[in-house]
Amino acid sequence: MTIIAQALLERWMRQYYFDTEIDLGSSGVQSFSLAELRELLGLTEKETDSIVFDDSKTLGGEGLRTALAHRYGNGDPETVIATHGSSEAIFLIMNALVRPGDEVVILEPIYQQFYSIGESLGANYKHWPLRFEQRFVPDVGEAKSLISSRTRAVVVNFPHNPTGASLSVAQQKELVDAVAGVGAYLVWDGAFAEMSYDSEPLPDPFNLYERAISMGTLSKAFGLPGLRVGWCLAPPEVLAGCVHLRDYLTLHLSPLVELIAQRAIEKADVLLSVRRTQIKRNLAIVTQWVEENRESVEWVPPVGGVCTFLRLRHIDNVEAFCDRLARQHEVLLVPGNCFNRPQHVRLGFGSATAELQEGLFRLSEALQVYR
Ligand SMILES: Cc1ncc(COP(=O)(O)O)c(C=O)c1O
Repeated sequence: MTIIAQALLERWMRQYYFDTEIDLGSSGVQSFSLAELRELLGLTEKETDSIVFDDSKTLGGEGLRTALAHRYGNGDPETVIATHGSSEAIFLIMNALVRPGDEVVILEPIYQQFYSIGESLGANYKHWPLRFEQRFVPDVGEAKSLISSRTRAVVVNFPHNPTGASLSVAQQKELVDAVAGVGAYLVWDGAFAEMSYDSEPLPDPFNLYERAISMGTLSKAFGLPGLRVGWCLAPPEVLAGCVHLRDYLTLHLSPLVELIAQRAIEKADVLLSVRRTQIKRNLAIVTQWVEENRESVEWVPPVGGVCTFLRLRHIDNVEAFCDRLARQHEVLLVPGNCFNRPQHVRLGFGSATAELQEGLFRLSEALQVYR
């Protein structure tokens, strides 16, 4: 086992998230307050007061897992583990699945934890790249050429952070069939599953293939990153591996957190519709901003999620630019270095509309110097 690499995105956020006025870097929608949740979810004081702070179950409280299984799976709570954000799910799953020498096919770029954890465990990764030159359209044929009888797992994230790319239903089926053809595990990060624009959300792969492992989170589309709730639907042998490891890590979630999360899932459509309206408005603003700043930026419009992976035309050192933007203009943007793509920046458009507008105005000012 080798030392695990530093998580570059998390390090960047730690450095700049708390010290900037305007957030154009995060990948989620605007966060909700507890008061807003009470109103939107009908969560009463009596309910929260009735919580007794006992331990919860290792896989998660029955109510929350039932709600998750009904929304995303086959209705059976035994197929679900509720986790401390989906980052805990990623840690558990990669540790449960991967052994030294295993071959893993992975979409690239992707949330770093998926490869740094596996690399520290001695896995060999084969990369399936999304290319700006191909408008970030996933080439499933290329993925198929990488998948073989030696493949232990195929790791993907759709809709995709940071590009906003996704698969069609037919492409998803083609990919699932290819993974099933060799009996590998499909690790599917559906953090943005509920945020697609011009099409219905893709089917959850857990319901398509018995070795599919599907993850979700309340941190992105639901606007609850501070609640720290994610989940994973997985086959029994994989969940058993997660439980084994969780006994050394977080044990279980808080019953208070589980109650709020359960209500959020039961009334998901209420929460999601508020932010979907906002996101559509924000995306139109970003689209117009890109038009007005064509001199400085190029992009591929996202089809899902709340991020876009802009290419900056005249800037050689994107990390230095983002650092200056944070220090001089108080705007958080994420350099593509955090995703091994140093010509790009991740722009998140999930914040309050007025904040987004002010952030884009300041970004235009900062970019003008380079024209
Ligand atoms: C694609 C993706 N998956 C998973 C995560 C983990 O988020 P959380 O632990 O808040 O659920 C992130 C966080 O940025 C992400 O971008």
